[in-house]
Amino acid sequence: MNDQNRYPAEQRETVYRVIAERRDVRRGFRPDPVPADVLGRVLAAAHQAPSVGFSQPWDFIVITDRDRRERIAALARRHAGEFADELPGARARAFDRLKIESILDTPVNIVVSCDRTRGGRHTLGRRTQPKTADFSSVLAVANLWLAARAEGLGVGWVSFFDERELAAELGLPPHLEVIAYLCVGYVTEFAPEPELATAGWARRRPLSWAVHAEQYGRRGLPGEEPVDPLADVIAAIAPPDAAAMAAASERQDRMTKPRGSLGLLEDVSVRLAGLAGSCPPPLPEPACVAVFAADHGVHAQGVSPWPQEVTAQMVANFLAGGAVVNAFAAQAGAEVTVVDVGVAAELEPLPGLLPRKIAPGTADFTEGAAMTREQAVAALTVGAEVARDLVAAGNRCLITGDMGIANTTASAALICAFTGADPAEATGRGTGIDAATYARKVDVVCRGLARHRPDPADPVGVLAAFGGFEHAALAGFILGGAALRVPVILDGVIAGAAALAAVALAPAAAGACFAGHRSAESGHTVTLNHLGLRPLIDLGLRLGEGSGAVLALPLVQSAARALRDVATFDSAGVADKL
Ligand SMILES: Cc1cc2nc3c(=O)[nH]c(=O)nc-3n(C[C@H](O)[C@H](O)[C@H](O)COP(=O)(O)O)c2cc1C
Repeated sequence: MNDQNRYPAEQRETVYRVIAERRDVRRGFRPDPVPADVLGRVLAAAHQAPSVGFSQPWDFIVITDRDRRERIAALARRHAGEFADELPGARARAFDRLKIESILDTPVNIVVSCDRTRGGRHTLGRRTQPKTADFSSVLAVANLWLAARAEGLGVGWVSFFDERELAAELGLPPHLEVIAYLCVGYVTEFAPEPELATAGWARRRPLSWAVHAEQYGRRGLPGEEPVDPLADVIAAIAPPDAAAMAAASERQDRMTKPRGSLGLLEDVSVRLAGLAGSCPPPLPEPACVAVFAADHGVHAQGVSPWPQEVTAQMVANFLAGGAVVNAFAAQAGAEVTVVDVGVAAELEPLPGLLPRKIAPGTADFTEGAAMTREQAVAALTVGAEVARDLVAAGNRCLITGDMGIANTTASAALICAFTGADPAEATGRGTGIDAATYARKVDVVCRGLARHRPDPADPVGVLAAFGGFEHAALAGFILGGAALRVPVILDGVIAGAAALAAVALAPAAAGACFAGHRSAESGHTVTLNHLGLRPLIDLGLRLGEGSGAVLALPLVQSAARALRDVATFDSAGVADKL
Protein backbone atom coordinates (compact mmCIF):
# COMPACT_ATOMS: atom_id res chain seq x y z
CA MET A 1 0.00 0.00 0.00
CA ASN A 2 1.45 3.32 -0.93
CA ASP A 3 -1.49 5.36 0.30
CA GLN A 4 -0.96 4.79 4.03
CA ASN A 5 -0.33 8.50 4.60
CA ARG A 6 -3.40 9.55 2.73
CA TYR A 7 -6.17 11.45 4.53
CA PRO A 8 -9.54 9.78 4.85
CA ALA A 9 -11.76 10.36 1.80
CA GLU A 10 -13.94 12.99 3.44
CA GLN A 11 -10.98 15.09 4.54
CA ARG A 12 -9.38 14.81 1.13
CA GLU A 13 -12.62 16.02 -0.40
CA THR A 14 -12.52 19.02 1.90
CA VAL A 15 -9.03 19.91 0.74
CA TYR A 16 -10.02 19.71 -2.92
CA ARG A 17 -13.23 21.53 -2.14
CA VAL A 18 -11.50 24.52 -0.60
CA ILE A 19 -9.16 24.66 -3.60
CA ALA A 20 -12.08 24.54 -6.04
CA GLU A 21 -14.21 27.01 -4.12
CA ARG A 22 -11.55 29.61 -3.39
CA ARG A 23 -12.57 32.73 -5.27
CA ASP A 24 -11.22 36.17 -5.89
CA VAL A 25 -14.07 38.17 -4.38
CA ARG A 26 -14.87 41.74 -5.31
CA ARG A 27 -18.61 42.02 -4.62
CA GLY A 28 -21.03 41.28 -1.83
CA PHE A 29 -18.75 42.01 1.14
CA ARG A 30 -20.44 42.42 4.50
CA PRO A 31 -19.27 45.15 6.86
CA ASP A 32 -18.92 42.78 9.88
CA PRO A 33 -15.46 42.96 11.43
CA VAL A 34 -13.19 39.94 11.20
CA PRO A 35 -12.54 38.68 14.77
CA ALA A 36 -8.90 38.73 15.83
CA ASP A 37 -8.75 34.98 16.41
CA VAL A 38 -10.05 34.23 12.89
CA LEU A 39 -7.58 36.66 11.35
CA GLY A 40 -4.85 35.10 13.46
CA ARG A 41 -5.62 31.61 12.14
CA VAL A 42 -5.60 32.80 8.56
CA LEU A 43 -2.27 34.58 9.02
CA ALA A 44 -0.83 31.50 10.74
CA ALA A 45 -1.80 29.45 7.68
CA ALA A 46 -0.02 31.98 5.48
CA HIS A 47 3.02 31.82 7.70
CA GLN A 48 3.28 28.04 7.17
CA ALA A 49 3.86 28.45 3.44
CA PRO A 50 6.89 26.82 1.86
CA SER A 51 9.78 29.24 1.27
CA VAL A 52 13.10 29.10 -0.53
CA GLY A 53 15.82 27.92 1.87
CA PHE A 54 13.16 28.28 4.61
CA SER A 55 13.80 32.03 4.37
CA GLN A 56 10.16 33.01 5.17
CA PRO A 57 10.61 36.29 3.31
CA TRP A 58 7.08 37.55 3.95
CA ASP A 59 5.61 40.15 6.28
CA PHE A 60 1.92 40.89 6.67
CA ILE A 61 0.76 44.48 7.09
CA VAL A 62 -2.78 44.52 8.41
CA ILE A 63 -4.66 47.69 7.48
CA THR A 64 -8.01 48.74 8.93
CA ASP A 65 -7.67 52.54 9.16
CA ARG A 66 -10.28 54.14 6.88
CA ASP A 67 -8.23 57.22 5.95
CA ARG A 68 -5.30 55.09 4.91
CA ARG A 69 -7.56 52.84 2.84
CA GLU A 70 -9.09 55.90 1.17
CA ARG A 71 -5.63 57.09 0.13
CA ILE A 72 -4.74 53.61 -1.12
CA ALA A 73 -8.02 53.30 -3.02
CA ALA A 74 -7.25 56.61 -4.76
CA LEU A 75 -3.87 55.23 -5.88
CA ALA A 76 -5.55 52.10 -7.32
CA ARG A 77 -8.25 54.12 -9.07
CA ARG A 78 -5.65 56.29 -10.81
CA HIS A 79 -3.79 53.28 -12.21
CA ALA A 80 -6.99 51.47 -13.18
CA GLY A 81 -7.97 54.61 -15.11
CA GLU A 82 -4.65 54.65 -16.92
CA PHE A 83 -5.09 50.96 -17.81
CA ALA A 84 -8.62 51.60 -19.07
CA ASP A 85 -7.36 54.43 -21.29
CA GLU A 86 -5.14 51.96 -23.16
CA LEU A 87 -7.90 49.43 -23.85
CA PRO A 88 -9.54 49.04 -27.26
CA GLY A 89 -13.28 49.89 -27.46
CA ALA A 90 -15.16 46.75 -26.46
CA ARG A 91 -12.52 45.84 -23.88
CA ALA A 92 -12.79 49.28 -22.31
CA ARG A 93 -16.58 48.92 -22.05
CA ALA A 94 -16.21 45.45 -20.50
CA PHE A 95 -13.57 46.73 -18.06
CA ASP A 96 -15.88 49.52 -17.01
CA ARG A 97 -18.42 46.92 -15.90
CA LEU A 98 -15.88 44.95 -13.87
CA LYS A 99 -15.20 45.55 -10.23
CA ILE A 100 -11.49 45.32 -9.66
CA GLU A 101 -11.04 46.26 -6.00
CA SER A 102 -12.92 46.31 -2.70
CA ILE A 103 -10.48 48.33 -0.63
CA LEU A 104 -13.20 50.32 1.11
CA ASP A 105 -15.89 47.62 1.06
CA THR A 106 -13.85 45.27 3.25
CA PRO A 107 -13.05 45.74 6.94
CA VAL A 108 -9.46 44.52 6.64
CA ASN A 109 -6.78 44.84 3.99
CA ILE A 110 -3.62 42.76 4.19
CA VAL A 111 -0.41 43.51 2.34
CA VAL A 112 1.98 40.63 1.85
CA SER A 113 5.55 41.80 1.29
CA CYS A 114 8.82 40.11 0.42
CA ASP A 115 12.27 40.68 1.81
CA ARG A 116 14.55 39.39 -0.93
CA THR A 117 17.57 39.66 1.37
CA ARG A 118 16.19 37.68 4.30
CA GLY A 119 18.29 34.68 5.28
CA GLY A 120 21.51 36.26 4.09
CA ARG A 121 23.79 35.42 1.24
CA HIS A 122 23.61 31.64 1.43
CA THR A 123 19.89 31.13 1.38
CA LEU A 124 19.46 27.74 -0.22
CA GLY A 125 18.12 27.91 -3.76
CA ARG A 126 17.98 31.68 -4.08
CA ARG A 127 21.41 32.13 -5.67
CA THR A 128 20.50 30.87 -9.13
CA GLN A 129 16.88 31.97 -8.96
CA PRO A 130 16.50 35.23 -7.02
CA LYS A 131 12.81 35.27 -7.95
CA THR A 132 12.23 32.31 -5.62
CA ALA A 133 12.00 34.82 -2.76
CA ASP A 134 8.95 36.41 -4.40
CA PHE A 135 7.50 32.99 -5.22
CA SER A 136 7.68 32.13 -1.53
CA SER A 137 5.64 35.17 -0.54
CA VAL A 138 3.10 34.30 -3.25
CA LEU A 139 2.73 30.86 -1.66
CA ALA A 140 1.96 32.61 1.62
CA VAL A 141 -0.80 34.46 -0.22
CA ALA A 142 -2.14 31.15 -1.55
CA ASN A 143 -2.25 29.66 1.95
CA LEU A 144 -3.98 32.77 3.29
CA TRP A 145 -6.52 32.69 0.48
CA LEU A 146 -7.40 29.03 1.05
CA ALA A 147 -7.62 29.34 4.83
CA ALA A 148 -9.81 32.43 4.42
CA ARG A 149 -12.18 30.46 2.18
CA ALA A 150 -12.47 27.75 4.82
CA GLU A 151 -13.31 30.50 7.37
CA GLY A 152 -15.97 31.93 5.04
CA LEU A 153 -13.86 35.02 4.36
CA GLY A 154 -13.65 36.48 0.87
CA VAL A 155 -10.30 37.72 -0.44
CA GLY A 156 -9.80 40.06 -3.39
CA TRP A 157 -6.31 40.66 -4.79
CA VAL A 158 -5.66 44.17 -6.11
CA SER A 159 -2.66 44.80 -8.31
CA PHE A 160 -3.40 48.24 -9.73
CA PHE A 161 -0.57 49.88 -7.84
CA ASP A 162 2.73 51.51 -8.45
CA GLU A 163 4.70 49.29 -6.12
CA ARG A 164 6.85 52.07 -4.59
CA GLU A 165 3.91 54.45 -4.14
CA LEU A 166 2.17 51.81 -2.09
CA ALA A 167 5.37 50.94 -0.22
CA ALA A 168 5.71 54.59 0.80
CA GLU A 169 2.13 54.70 2.12
CA LEU A 170 2.86 51.59 4.22
CA GLY A 171 6.24 52.75 5.50
CA LEU A 172 7.97 49.73 3.96
CA PRO A 173 11.77 49.90 4.08
CA PRO A 174 13.22 50.20 0.58
CA HIS A 175 14.47 46.60 0.49
CA LEU A 176 10.95 45.21 0.92
CA GLU A 177 8.73 44.57 -2.09
CA VAL A 178 4.94 44.59 -2.11
CA ILE A 179 3.80 41.20 -3.37
CA ALA A 180 0.06 41.36 -2.83
CA TYR A 181 -2.64 43.73 -1.70
CA LEU A 182 -5.58 41.72 -0.36
CA CYS A 183 -9.04 42.93 0.65
CA VAL A 184 -10.56 40.61 3.23
CA GLY A 185 -14.04 40.34 4.71
CA TYR A 186 -17.11 38.17 5.18
CA VAL A 187 -19.27 37.84 2.09
CA THR A 188 -22.88 37.06 1.29
CA GLU A 189 -21.84 34.27 -1.09
CA PHE A 190 -18.97 32.80 -3.08
CA ALA A 191 -19.50 32.72 -6.82
CA PRO A 192 -19.10 29.29 -8.41
CA GLU A 193 -16.90 30.64 -11.22
CA PRO A 194 -14.29 33.42 -11.47
CA GLU A 195 -16.07 36.71 -12.06
CA LEU A 196 -13.88 37.32 -15.09
CA ALA A 197 -15.21 34.09 -16.62
CA THR A 198 -18.84 34.95 -15.83
CA ALA A 199 -18.34 38.40 -17.34
CA GLY A 200 -16.86 36.84 -20.51
CA TRP A 201 -13.50 38.58 -19.99
CA ALA A 202 -11.54 35.31 -20.07
CA ARG A 203 -12.25 31.57 -20.09
CA ARG A 204 -10.88 28.71 -18.05
CA ARG A 205 -8.24 26.79 -19.98
CA PRO A 206 -8.76 23.03 -19.96
CA LEU A 207 -6.19 21.09 -17.93
CA SER A 208 -5.21 19.13 -21.05
CA TRP A 209 -3.76 22.33 -22.59
CA ALA A 210 -1.44 22.75 -19.65
CA VAL A 211 -0.09 19.24 -19.13
CA HIS A 212 2.82 18.06 -21.30
CA ALA A 213 4.38 14.59 -21.33
CA GLU A 214 8.18 14.67 -21.00
CA GLN A 215 8.70 17.64 -23.29
CA TYR A 216 6.88 20.87 -23.90
CA GLY A 217 4.33 20.45 -26.66
CA ARG A 218 3.49 16.76 -26.08
CA ARG A 219 0.21 17.61 -24.45
CA GLY A 220 -1.77 14.91 -22.74
CA LEU A 221 -3.28 14.05 -19.39
CA PRO A 222 -1.68 11.34 -17.24
CA GLY A 223 -2.76 7.90 -18.43
CA GLU A 224 -3.85 9.24 -21.79
CA GLU A 225 -2.07 9.21 -25.14
CA PRO A 226 -0.38 12.53 -25.97
CA VAL A 227 -2.79 14.63 -28.01
CA ASP A 228 -1.96 15.81 -31.52
CA PRO A 229 -3.03 19.46 -31.14
CA LEU A 230 -3.54 20.08 -34.85
CA ALA A 231 -5.56 16.86 -35.35
CA ASP A 232 -7.65 17.85 -32.33
CA VAL A 233 -8.36 21.28 -33.76
CA ILE A 234 -9.31 19.83 -37.15
CA ALA A 235 -11.54 17.21 -35.52
CA ALA A 236 -13.36 19.94 -33.60
CA ILE A 237 -14.41 21.82 -36.75
CA ALA A 238 -18.03 21.18 -37.59
CA PRO A 239 -20.30 22.53 -40.33
CA PRO A 240 -22.52 25.52 -39.58
CA ASP A 241 -25.71 24.95 -37.59
CA ALA A 242 -28.48 24.72 -40.18
CA ALA A 243 -31.28 25.47 -37.70
CA ALA A 244 -29.61 28.68 -36.48
CA MET A 245 -29.05 29.75 -40.09
CA ALA A 246 -32.67 29.09 -40.98
CA ALA A 247 -33.82 31.07 -37.93
CA ALA A 248 -31.55 33.97 -38.91
CA SER A 249 -32.80 34.02 -42.52
CA GLU A 250 -36.36 33.90 -41.33
CA ARG A 251 -35.74 36.73 -38.85
CA GLN A 252 -34.06 38.84 -41.54
CA ASP A 253 -37.29 38.52 -43.54
CA ARG A 254 -39.39 39.69 -40.59
CA MET A 255 -37.17 42.64 -39.63
CA THR A 256 -38.55 46.15 -40.16
CA LYS A 257 -36.90 46.71 -43.53
CA PRO A 258 -37.55 45.52 -47.05
CA ARG A 259 -36.48 41.90 -47.52
CA GLY A 260 -32.92 41.56 -48.69
CA SER A 261 -32.24 45.29 -48.29
CA LEU A 262 -29.12 44.68 -46.17
CA GLY A 263 -27.56 42.86 -49.08
CA LEU A 264 -24.38 41.00 -48.24
CA LEU A 265 -24.77 41.89 -44.54
CA GLU A 266 -27.82 39.62 -44.37
CA ASP A 267 -25.68 36.77 -45.60
CA VAL A 268 -23.00 37.68 -43.03
CA SER A 269 -25.56 37.67 -40.21
CA VAL A 270 -26.91 34.29 -41.27
CA ARG A 271 -23.40 32.84 -41.45
CA LEU A 272 -22.55 34.30 -38.02
CA ALA A 273 -25.65 32.61 -36.62
CA GLY A 274 -24.69 29.31 -38.25
CA LEU A 275 -21.18 29.56 -36.89
CA ALA A 276 -22.29 30.36 -33.34
CA GLY A 277 -25.15 27.88 -33.47
CA SER A 278 -27.53 30.53 -32.14
CA CYS A 279 -29.83 33.21 -33.48
CA PRO A 280 -29.10 35.99 -32.89
CA PRO A 281 -25.37 35.25 -32.74
CA PRO A 282 -23.21 36.89 -30.07
CA LEU A 283 -21.72 40.24 -31.05
CA PRO A 284 -18.26 39.66 -32.52
CA GLU A 285 -16.47 41.76 -29.92
CA PRO A 286 -13.94 42.20 -28.46
CA ALA A 287 -11.85 41.66 -31.60
CA CYS A 288 -8.15 41.08 -31.95
CA VAL A 289 -5.89 41.30 -35.01
CA ALA A 290 -3.02 38.82 -34.96
CA VAL A 291 -0.26 39.99 -37.28
CA PHE A 292 1.85 36.92 -38.13
CA ALA A 293 5.34 37.99 -39.26
CA ALA A 294 8.00 35.96 -41.06
CA ASP A 295 10.71 36.19 -43.70
CA HIS A 296 11.06 34.35 -46.99
CA GLY A 297 14.05 32.69 -48.61
CA VAL A 298 12.57 33.44 -52.02
CA HIS A 299 13.37 37.10 -51.36
CA ALA A 300 16.85 36.23 -52.69
CA GLN A 301 15.32 35.89 -56.18
CA GLY A 302 14.76 39.65 -56.36
CA VAL A 303 10.95 39.49 -56.23
CA SER A 304 10.52 42.56 -54.02
CA PRO A 305 12.03 46.04 -54.13
CA TRP A 306 12.10 46.10 -50.32
CA PRO A 307 15.03 44.82 -48.27
CA GLN A 308 14.25 41.87 -46.01
CA GLU A 309 15.04 43.89 -42.87
CA VAL A 310 11.77 45.77 -43.39
CA THR A 311 9.88 42.80 -41.92
CA ALA A 312 11.58 43.24 -38.54
CA GLN A 313 11.38 47.02 -38.78
CA MET A 314 7.65 46.87 -39.40
CA VAL A 315 7.20 44.50 -36.46
CA ALA A 316 8.80 47.20 -34.32
CA ASN A 317 6.43 49.73 -35.87
CA PHE A 318 3.35 47.57 -35.08
CA LEU A 319 4.52 47.22 -31.50
CA ALA A 320 5.10 50.95 -31.21
CA GLY A 321 1.58 51.53 -32.54
CA GLY A 322 2.77 53.40 -35.63
CA ALA A 323 1.51 51.29 -38.54
CA VAL A 324 -1.69 51.62 -40.55
CA VAL A 325 -3.13 48.51 -38.89
CA ASN A 326 -2.67 50.19 -35.50
CA ALA A 327 -4.52 53.31 -36.64
CA PHE A 328 -7.37 51.30 -38.16
CA ALA A 329 -7.53 48.98 -35.15
CA ALA A 330 -7.68 51.96 -32.78
CA GLN A 331 -10.55 53.37 -34.84
CA ALA A 332 -12.41 50.05 -34.91
CA GLY A 333 -11.71 49.25 -31.24
CA ALA A 334 -9.61 46.15 -31.90
CA GLU A 335 -6.46 44.96 -30.17
CA VAL A 336 -3.27 44.30 -32.16
CA THR A 337 -1.03 41.32 -31.33
CA VAL A 338 2.12 40.53 -33.30
CA VAL A 339 3.32 36.93 -33.63
CA ASP A 340 6.89 36.30 -34.71
CA VAL A 341 6.69 32.96 -36.50
CA GLY A 342 9.84 33.34 -38.55
CA VAL A 343 11.37 36.82 -38.73
CA ALA A 344 15.02 36.62 -39.82
CA ALA A 345 16.18 38.76 -36.92
CA GLU A 346 16.31 38.52 -33.15
CA LEU A 347 13.39 40.54 -31.82
CA GLU A 348 13.48 42.27 -28.45
CA PRO A 349 10.73 41.08 -26.10
CA LEU A 350 8.04 43.76 -26.01
CA PRO A 351 4.44 43.88 -24.77
CA GLY A 352 2.15 42.71 -27.57
CA LEU A 353 4.77 40.47 -29.22
CA LEU A 354 4.28 36.71 -29.07
CA PRO A 355 7.66 35.05 -29.71
CA ARG A 356 6.79 31.85 -31.62
CA LYS A 357 9.65 31.71 -34.12
CA ILE A 358 9.83 28.39 -35.99
CA ALA A 359 13.05 29.38 -37.81
CA PRO A 360 14.63 32.69 -38.91
CA GLY A 361 12.96 32.74 -42.33
CA THR A 362 12.11 30.01 -44.83
CA ALA A 363 14.44 28.60 -47.49
CA ASP A 364 14.21 29.74 -51.13
CA PHE A 365 11.45 27.62 -52.68
CA THR A 366 13.07 27.75 -56.13
CA GLU A 367 15.96 25.75 -54.70
CA GLY A 368 14.19 23.34 -52.37
CA ALA A 369 11.31 23.14 -49.92
CA ALA A 370 10.69 26.41 -48.07
CA MET A 371 10.38 24.44 -44.85
CA THR A 372 10.18 20.89 -43.57
CA ARG A 373 6.83 19.22 -43.02
CA GLU A 374 7.56 19.30 -39.28
CA GLN A 375 8.04 23.05 -39.46
CA ALA A 376 4.80 23.44 -41.41
CA VAL A 377 2.94 21.46 -38.74
CA ALA A 378 4.65 23.48 -35.99
CA ALA A 379 3.59 26.76 -37.63
CA LEU A 380 0.03 25.50 -38.13
CA THR A 381 -0.05 24.53 -34.47
CA VAL A 382 1.28 27.92 -33.37
CA GLY A 383 -1.49 29.62 -35.32
CA ALA A 384 -4.18 27.40 -33.82
CA GLU A 385 -2.82 28.01 -30.32
CA VAL A 386 -2.70 31.76 -30.83
CA ALA A 387 -6.37 31.64 -31.89
CA ARG A 388 -7.24 29.54 -28.87
CA ASP A 389 -5.36 31.78 -26.46
CA LEU A 390 -6.91 34.95 -27.87
CA VAL A 391 -10.37 33.43 -27.53
CA ALA A 392 -9.56 32.19 -24.02
CA ALA A 393 -8.52 35.77 -23.26
CA GLY A 394 -12.06 36.86 -24.10
CA ASN A 395 -11.93 37.78 -27.80
CA ARG A 396 -15.01 36.93 -29.84
CA CYS A 397 -13.69 37.88 -33.26
CA LEU A 398 -10.30 37.10 -34.79
CA ILE A 399 -8.74 39.16 -37.54
CA THR A 400 -5.86 38.00 -39.71
CA GLY A 401 -2.82 40.19 -40.22
CA ASP A 402 0.53 39.46 -41.83
CA MET A 403 3.95 40.94 -42.42
CA GLY A 404 6.70 39.37 -44.49
CA ILE A 405 8.67 40.96 -47.30
CA ALA A 406 8.21 38.72 -50.42
CA ASN A 407 5.12 37.02 -49.03
CA THR A 408 2.97 37.84 -52.06
CA THR A 409 5.31 35.58 -54.08
CA ALA A 410 4.78 32.68 -51.70
CA SER A 411 1.05 33.48 -51.76
CA ALA A 412 0.95 33.29 -55.55
CA ALA A 413 2.60 29.87 -55.50
CA LEU A 414 0.16 28.64 -52.83
CA ILE A 415 -2.82 29.96 -54.77
CA CYS A 416 -1.66 28.20 -57.95
CA ALA A 417 -1.07 25.00 -56.02
CA PHE A 418 -4.49 24.99 -54.37
CA THR A 419 -6.65 26.40 -57.18
CA GLY A 420 -4.77 25.34 -60.28
CA ALA A 421 -4.67 29.00 -61.38
CA ASP A 422 -2.16 30.17 -63.96
CA PRO A 423 0.89 31.86 -62.34
CA ALA A 424 0.39 34.94 -64.51
CA GLU A 425 -3.12 35.28 -63.11
CA ALA A 426 -2.27 34.47 -59.51
CA THR A 427 0.83 36.65 -59.28
CA GLY A 428 0.29 40.26 -58.39
CA ARG A 429 2.48 43.31 -58.18
CA GLY A 430 2.77 43.16 -54.39
CA THR A 431 4.07 46.41 -52.93
CA GLY A 432 4.47 47.82 -56.43
CA ILE A 433 7.08 46.47 -58.82
CA ASP A 434 8.28 47.28 -62.31
CA ALA A 435 7.63 45.11 -65.36
CA ALA A 436 11.01 43.35 -65.18
CA THR A 437 10.56 42.43 -61.51
CA TYR A 438 7.01 41.29 -62.22
CA ALA A 439 8.19 39.01 -65.02
CA ARG A 440 10.86 37.60 -62.70
CA LYS A 441 8.24 37.04 -59.99
CA VAL A 442 5.97 35.08 -62.34
CA ASP A 443 8.99 33.06 -63.48
CA VAL A 444 9.92 32.33 -59.84
CA VAL A 445 6.39 31.05 -59.18
CA CYS A 446 6.52 28.89 -62.35
CA ARG A 447 9.89 27.46 -61.39
CA GLY A 448 8.65 26.72 -57.88
CA LEU A 449 5.58 24.93 -59.18
CA ALA A 450 7.66 22.94 -61.69
CA ARG A 451 10.11 21.97 -59.00
CA HIS A 452 7.66 20.88 -56.30
CA ARG A 453 4.72 19.59 -58.39
CA PRO A 454 2.43 20.36 -55.43
CA ASP A 455 -0.46 18.05 -54.60
CA PRO A 456 -3.42 20.11 -53.31
CA ALA A 457 -4.65 17.00 -51.51
CA ASP A 458 -1.55 17.30 -49.29
CA PRO A 459 -1.97 20.79 -47.81
CA VAL A 460 0.90 20.38 -45.34
CA GLY A 461 3.16 19.41 -48.23
CA VAL A 462 2.05 22.47 -50.22
CA LEU A 463 2.72 24.77 -47.26
CA ALA A 464 6.11 23.14 -46.71
CA ALA A 465 7.02 23.54 -50.37
CA PHE A 466 6.31 27.27 -50.63
CA GLY A 467 5.94 28.68 -47.13
CA GLY A 468 5.89 31.03 -45.53
CA PHE A 469 5.72 30.49 -41.84
CA GLU A 470 3.08 33.21 -41.62
CA HIS A 471 0.90 31.44 -44.20
CA ALA A 472 1.07 28.17 -42.26
CA ALA A 473 0.43 29.93 -38.95
CA LEU A 474 -2.47 31.89 -40.45
CA ALA A 475 -3.96 28.64 -41.74
CA GLY A 476 -3.72 27.27 -38.19
CA PHE A 477 -5.22 30.51 -36.83
CA ILE A 478 -8.21 30.11 -39.15
CA LEU A 479 -8.61 26.46 -38.12
CA GLY A 480 -8.35 27.46 -34.47
CA GLY A 481 -11.07 30.09 -34.86
CA ALA A 482 -13.28 27.65 -36.75
CA ALA A 483 -12.84 24.98 -34.06
CA LEU A 484 -13.99 27.49 -31.43
CA ARG A 485 -16.80 28.73 -33.69
CA VAL A 486 -15.45 32.27 -33.60
CA PRO A 487 -15.54 34.36 -36.79
CA VAL A 488 -12.22 35.02 -38.52
CA ILE A 489 -12.11 38.11 -40.73
CA LEU A 490 -9.64 37.53 -43.51
CA ASP A 491 -7.41 40.26 -44.84
CA GLY A 492 -6.10 40.11 -48.40
CA VAL A 493 -4.10 37.79 -50.57
CA ILE A 494 -1.82 36.36 -47.86
CA ALA A 495 -4.77 35.46 -45.63
CA GLY A 496 -6.61 34.15 -48.67
CA ALA A 497 -3.72 31.83 -49.56
CA ALA A 498 -3.64 30.65 -45.94
CA ALA A 499 -7.42 30.11 -45.98
CA LEU A 500 -7.01 27.85 -49.03
CA ALA A 501 -4.66 25.70 -46.98
CA ALA A 502 -7.01 25.75 -43.97
CA VAL A 503 -10.00 24.74 -46.06
CA ALA A 504 -7.97 22.01 -47.76
CA LEU A 505 -7.24 20.63 -44.28
CA ALA A 506 -10.81 21.07 -42.99
CA PRO A 507 -13.44 22.10 -45.55
CA ALA A 508 -15.88 23.20 -42.84
CA ALA A 509 -13.38 25.88 -41.73
CA ALA A 510 -14.79 28.00 -44.56
CA GLY A 511 -17.83 28.55 -42.34
CA ALA A 512 -15.73 30.67 -39.96
CA CYS A 513 -14.14 32.80 -42.70
CA PHE A 514 -15.41 36.26 -43.59
CA ALA A 515 -13.62 38.02 -46.44
CA GLY A 516 -12.84 41.48 -45.10
CA HIS A 517 -11.97 43.01 -48.44
CA ARG A 518 -10.94 42.38 -52.00
CA SER A 519 -7.28 43.16 -52.44
CA ALA A 520 -5.89 44.77 -55.57
CA GLU A 521 -3.71 41.66 -55.97
CA SER A 522 -5.13 39.66 -58.88
CA GLY A 523 -4.56 36.34 -57.11
CA HIS A 524 -6.94 37.40 -54.39
CA THR A 525 -9.99 37.37 -56.64
CA VAL A 526 -9.05 33.87 -57.80
CA THR A 527 -8.80 32.88 -54.14
CA LEU A 528 -12.11 34.41 -53.07
CA ASN A 529 -13.88 32.71 -55.95
CA HIS A 530 -12.34 29.39 -55.01
CA LEU A 531 -13.37 29.85 -51.37
CA GLY A 532 -16.83 31.05 -52.39
CA LEU A 533 -16.46 34.21 -50.27
CA ARG A 534 -17.75 37.65 -51.14
CA PRO A 535 -15.55 40.48 -49.87
CA LEU A 536 -17.16 43.09 -47.64
CA ILE A 537 -15.24 46.04 -49.02
CA ASP A 538 -13.39 46.70 -52.24
CA LEU A 539 -11.20 49.78 -51.88
CA GLY A 540 -8.22 48.81 -54.01
CA LEU A 541 -6.14 48.22 -50.86
CA ARG A 542 -2.89 46.28 -51.23
CA LEU A 543 -1.18 46.86 -47.92
CA GLY A 544 -1.61 43.70 -45.88
CA GLU A 545 -0.95 43.90 -42.10
CA GLY A 546 -4.63 43.10 -41.54
CA SER A 547 -5.60 46.65 -42.56
CA GLY A 548 -8.48 45.72 -44.89
CA ALA A 549 -9.89 43.13 -42.51
CA VAL A 550 -9.92 45.62 -39.63
CA LEU A 551 -11.88 48.07 -41.77
CA ALA A 552 -14.50 45.36 -42.29
CA LEU A 553 -14.84 44.67 -38.54
CA PRO A 554 -17.64 47.22 -37.94
CA LEU A 555 -19.55 45.71 -40.87
CA VAL A 556 -19.41 42.20 -39.41
CA GLN A 557 -20.38 43.60 -36.01
CA SER A 558 -23.22 45.63 -37.50
CA ALA A 559 -24.55 42.54 -39.27
CA ALA A 560 -24.76 40.69 -35.94
CA ARG A 561 -26.20 43.70 -34.13
CA ALA A 562 -28.89 44.23 -36.74
CA LEU A 563 -30.06 40.65 -36.35
CA ARG A 564 -30.11 41.12 -32.58
CA ASP A 565 -31.53 44.63 -32.19
CA VAL A 566 -33.77 45.42 -35.17
CA ALA A 567 -37.48 44.99 -34.41
CA THR A 568 -39.66 42.65 -36.43
CA PHE A 569 -42.85 43.78 -38.20
CA ASP A 570 -45.02 42.05 -35.61
CA SER A 571 -43.06 43.24 -32.55
CA ALA A 572 -42.97 46.88 -33.75
CA GLY A 573 -46.49 46.92 -35.10
CA VAL A 574 -45.23 47.94 -38.55
CA ALA A 575 -47.23 46.74 -41.52
CA ASP A 576 -45.41 44.36 -43.86
CA LYS A 577 -45.45 44.81 -47.66
CA LEU A 578 -48.72 43.61 -49.15
C1 LIG B 1 -1.13 38.09 -9.07
C2 LIG B 1 -2.60 38.38 -9.08
C3 LIG B 1 -3.04 39.68 -9.21
C4 LIG B 1 -4.42 39.98 -9.27
N1 LIG B 1 -4.84 41.27 -9.38
C5 LIG B 1 -6.18 41.55 -9.42
C6 LIG B 1 -6.67 42.89 -9.49
O1 LIG B 1 -5.94 43.86 -9.52
N2 LIG B 1 -7.99 43.10 -9.51
C7 LIG B 1 -8.87 42.05 -9.49
O2 LIG B 1 -10.08 42.30 -9.54
N3 LIG B 1 -8.44 40.77 -9.42
C8 LIG B 1 -7.13 40.50 -9.37
N4 LIG B 1 -6.69 39.19 -9.27
C9 LIG B 1 -7.69 38.11 -9.19
C10 LIG B 1 -7.85 37.37 -10.49
O3 LIG B 1 -8.59 38.15 -11.41
C11 LIG B 1 -8.56 36.05 -10.22
O4 LIG B 1 -7.73 35.28 -9.42
C12 LIG B 1 -8.90 35.28 -11.49
O5 LIG B 1 -9.86 35.99 -12.22
C13 LIG B 1 -9.42 33.88 -11.21
O6 LIG B 1 -10.54 33.94 -10.37
P1 LIG B 1 -10.58 33.14 -8.99
O7 LIG B 1 -9.44 33.64 -8.16
O8 LIG B 1 -11.92 33.46 -8.40
O9 LIG B 1 -10.44 31.68 -9.33
C14 LIG B 1 -5.33 38.90 -9.19
C15 LIG B 1 -4.88 37.59 -9.06
C16 LIG B 1 -3.54 37.32 -8.98
C17 LIG B 1 -3.09 35.89 -8.80
